Amino acid sequence: MEDKKKDIDGRRKFLLQSGLAAVAIPFTQLSCERSNKKQAAEENEDAFEFVFLTDIHIKPEMNAPKGFQMAIDKVNELNPDFVLTGGDLVYDTMRGNYEQSESLFTLYKEMSKGFNMPVYNCIGNHDLFAIYEESPESEDHPDYKYGMWERHFGDTYYSFDHKGWHFITLNSLDVTENKRYQGIFHEKQLAWLKEDIAKVDESTPIIITTHIPMICTYSQLNGSEGSRTVNNASEVFKILEGHNLKLVLQGHIHWKEYGFINDRFHFLTGGSIAGNGWKGRRHNTKEGFVKIRVSGSDFSWEYVDHGWEAERLKLAKNNI
Ligand SMILES: [Fe+2]
Repeated sequence: MEDKKKDIDGRRKFLLQSGLAAVAIPFTQLSCERSNKKQAAEENEDAFEFVFLTDIHIKPEMNAPKGFQMAIDKVNELNPDFVLTGGDLVYDTMRGNYEQSESLFTLYKEMSKGFNMPVYNCIGNHDLFAIYEESPESEDHPDYKYGMWERHFGDTYYSFDHKGWHFITLNSLDVTENKRYQGIFHEKQLAWLKEDIAKVDESTPIIITTHIPMICTYSQLNGSEGSRTVNNASEVFKILEGHNLKLVLQGHIHWKEYGFINDRFHFLTGGSIAGNGWKGRRHNTKEGFVKIRVSGSDFSWEYVDHGWEAERLKLAKNNI
């Protein structure tokens, strides 16, 4: 028994040292390991929970509203203080005409009223209105790119405080000259971030939310071309130097990935609600969301299955 434990500890140590931990450690885990006793001692009035739901891709088809409603019901049952979303709220407005895109955002907005707690949204690539060449709408449209999202949800980047923690939601997207989306934090936002962070005490724990990952091993593991990260993510890390960055929450990939950088901060890519376009798992990651428990200056997390996979399989079996 003791030998077995040593084996597991040794393997875990090797994985952490080799950088493979992101794919090999089980996904239900404490991010910062500590004894139960110590953790219990640190439990305090300021402990709280929140959830991170990303890549919802809501649309009327594929039983997507049913699946999203199951996630909403599960969140309400868990009763966290608030919901953070990780972008790609809808599918899809990049190619869409006005009526279709507007109806998707309206569907998301109406359904998300079902959460019993505040919801802080993040913009994803599929939420950028009419950016693709094939869209019938022009760049002059007032809702072009961020416009429709802003009209429904407000600023695409912002911050708020909760029980001594500082939360920053970033807009990780812009459009290239040849009309593709790209992962980038634009200059205006970086200037805002500098101002925002100047008002935050250096000891205040910070959590960032971004749709396009700031850190991701997808390309290294899959050998695919192109990066799935924000081009200038390092500029944000530089701005945050000297501050107490704890965690970066990320979407876009529809898989789970966790890492801890140089004893400094954690990153977590939070699976997805939609899976592979509501058809099944993407990258073999089950549809779900992340629940995070914050206690003192530490946190733990787990991936929550809201039951959609079982329901999806049942519906498919009955051809619904
Ligand atoms: Fe997505």
